[in-house]
Amino acid sequence: MAKISIDRSRSKGTISRYIYGHFAEHLGRCIYGGIFVGKDSKIPNVNGMRTDVVEAMKALELPVLRWPGGCFADEYHWRDGIGPQENRKRMVNTNWGGVVEDNSFGTHEFLELCRQVGCEPYITGNVGSGTVQEMSEWVEYLNSDGDSSVAQERWANGSKEPFNVRFWGVGNENWGCGGNMRPEFYADQYRRYQGFCRQYGKNKLYKVACGPNGDDQNWTEVLMKNAAFCMDGLSLHSYTLCGDTWDNKGSATDFTEEEYYKTLVRSTLMEEKVVHHSAIMDRYDPAKRIGLIVDEWGNWFDVEPGTNPGFLYQQNTMRDAMVAAITLNIFNRHCDRVYMANIAQTVNVLQAIILTEGDRMVLTPTYHVFDLYRGHMDARELDCFVEAEKTGTEKWNMPCVTASASEKDGRITLTLANISADKPEEVTVSLNGECVKEACGRILEGERDTYNDFDKAPLSVRKFTDFEVRDGKLVVKLPRCSVAEITL
Ligand code: AHR
Repeated sequence: MAKISIDRSRSKGTISRYIYGHFAEHLGRCIYGGIFVGKDSKIPNVNGMRTDVVEAMKALELPVLRWPGGCFADEYHWRDGIGPQENRKRMVNTNWGGVVEDNSFGTHEFLELCRQVGCEPYITGNVGSGTVQEMSEWVEYLNSDGDSSVAQERWANGSKEPFNVRFWGVGNENWGCGGNMRPEFYADQYRRYQGFCRQYGKNKLYKVACGPNGDDQNWTEVLMKNAAFCMDGLSLHSYTLCGDTWDNKGSATDFTEEEYYKTLVRSTLMEEKVVHHSAIMDRYDPAKRIGLIVDEWGNWFDVEPGTNPGFLYQQNTMRDAMVAAITLNIFNRHCDRVYMANIAQTVNVLQAIILTEGDRMVLTPTYHVFDLYRGHMDARELDCFVEAEKTGTEKWNMPCVTASASEKDGRITLTLANISADKPEEVTVSLNGECVKEACGRILEGERDTYNDFDKAPLSVRKFTDFEVRDGKLVVKLPRCSVAEITL
């Protein structure tokens, strides 16, 4: 039996809605085919964007979308993706499968996508192979309300009004695919590039510096020491693998119980990373002005057999749902430093929320977790203490319940998951002396390796009623391998 104590008098502050952000790169079938099919496609679309996918993204109230990469960002030259389609440059996407990128999805198409979804854009500029002038002019093109030649180019391409893009990444993984830089060198590059990303009108750019790879604390130290004064956010990338090497990351669907727990235990390491990097950031930024922006996270498994290895297409099971539940609870609990997070990636790539095949679309278990957690966006985080027995195997075990709580408009949202692959769990929820009066719930549950496919999609969110109020506390019976949202 597990216990959860929620204390409404203790809070780390507001859970930024941007923690529920997403990421779409020019990679495999994420943009092309997954989101953008072109105006002439038989697949129903508005201005080239798949209607089914846009509707699914809207239903999640998706707050922010990161683009164009990823590694692609540091090879992307934005001028190749504007103007008449027939004049757009064809390039080879060297990072992802060596396919030809025809640049038919560019700046205007991305902003049209964000308009349709109703989310904010987060654009990553090119430091690795682009110039300071190129990045500076992209910001000017997007945001200038003056009549410079660069702004006039935007008018000529159909947008008189500036786009007022706020979130701006200065390079991606510059310690790796973005230029193999040392932190000292990147810190100086960051200072230089960001200085020419000007502010236009009332729009204030939120500048994100490339942050560490996983637990690389030296990178954070050097960046904070040398460039904290001119950054608003510092990114963090952290993926969870099941296998022990990049050549053997494990199958997305075919895994043992031991591998199920191994993956979940590994995903909990996100908390250590957030704590480690936050501690360094606290020394240079005790007021917590600078946000930790976890702009790539999620499970990274071997590609589905028979698919292009460069396209990173993987299925998505209840194990992925569990990792999403664990990770989002971690971000909620560290909302005093984590300001944004972007799961990788939205459609058909890595831990996707949506999969497509031709004109068909399926929502993954990870999608449903984002749906269950929507109530936390912009809510006040509440202290949520969990006491639970361990579950798992001798080598890979962890507390069987993960949870986080928040409050908005007098309603408490509690999200909790029963990690156990085979045992239900009774959880008693108390409100620090206050009586629980009534509750309602929704749940996602299934066997650990169940997934939704195009012909059969057994997993969806349903109403959950298996709880009762006893002595002012809520007693919940969570089925094995389940994620629930309970509002009090
Ligand atoms: O999300 C896939 C890739 O992972 C991104 O392009 C890169 O930034 C990271 O290494």
